[in-house]
Amino acid sequence: MTSRFTDRTALVTGAGSGIGRAVALAFAAEGANVVVAGRRREPLDETVALIEEAGGKALAVTADVARAADVQAVVDAAVERFGSLDVAVNNAGVFRGGQPVADLTDDDWRTQLDINVTGVFLALRAEVRRMRTQPAGGAIVNIASTFGMHKRQPGATAYAATKAAVSVLTRGAALDHIGDGVRINAVSPGATDTSMSLQPGETEAGRAERMRNEVPLGRVAAVEEVAAAVLYLASDDAASVVGTELVVDSGQTA
Ligand SMILES: NC(=O)c1ccc[n+]([C@@H]2O[C@H](COP(=O)([O-])OP(=O)(O)OC[C@H]3O[C@@H](n4cnc5c(N)ncnc54)[C@H](OP(=O)(O)O)[C@@H]3O)[C@@H](O)[C@H]2O)c1
Repeated sequence: MTSRFTDRTALVTGAGSGIGRAVALAFAAEGANVVVAGRRREPLDETVALIEEAGGKALAVTADVARAADVQAVVDAAVERFGSLDVAVNNAGVFRGGQPVADLTDDDWRTQLDINVTGVFLALRAEVRRMRTQPAGGAIVNIASTFGMHKRQPGATAYAATKAAVSVLTRGAALDHIGDGVRINAVSPGATDTSMSLQPGETEAGRAERMRNEVPLGRVAAVEEVAAAVLYLASDDAASVVGTELVVDSGQTA
């Protein structure tokens, strides 16, 4: 087994479930010390337990990424416990609404902007401020979505606008900070095997049937497949990959 992240510290937001948990487990399996962040304690503790049962090291820190002080506290905790911050994955995100634009509530609009856009900005800023002080710099991967820059979907316009912003933040920040030794990229998943890709009232079997008809590959991506893309971009294998976006979408935007 390869161990591309031995003795490195990786921070993953939204790591109590779904893609974030799979990313955290994958980093730990390749030797990283992992800091997992999210708002709810219990799912984070479950992720830590899974990592420790497999022989890895992890730390859970509760944080709301929409609050600057919380995000700074996560970065500080990572450095205090493990000595550095080498990798960060800004994965925390929410999908709210499903209505056409005219029927979106103020709350659904603001919540998605606060978490998906401001949350990524605040995390990026705190992470880069730390990484640029380190001789080895660091690598950051933001989780955008094919619903952002790549694909339009009725009923997902507010979410799509936030994810397009993540793509633009990624590219701009990548140019701003590659000279500081901080490499920034994004992964854009399409429909992935988490509760977020279920339509209201839809079962997993129902989604599987929909995917057979809608998606060239005929199925959703597994969370481990998205995690593999994240680890590649965060690793030295991608040392010359800067400001790009890796789409993992079962061929939906091919
Ligand atoms: N699943 C898909 O089909 C798909 C496709 C494209 C992109 N994505 C993106 O992939 C990322 C992960 O989604 P997922 O599918 O794994 O969904 P998920 O299981 O709902 O994971 C989202 C995670 O983010 C955390 N989170 C939400 N708001 C937060 C906040 N304010 N501060 C800190 N943590 C917060 C949640 O934990 P708490 O509630 O405890 O905070 C949760 O663990 C999201 O950015 C999503 O937009 C997903």
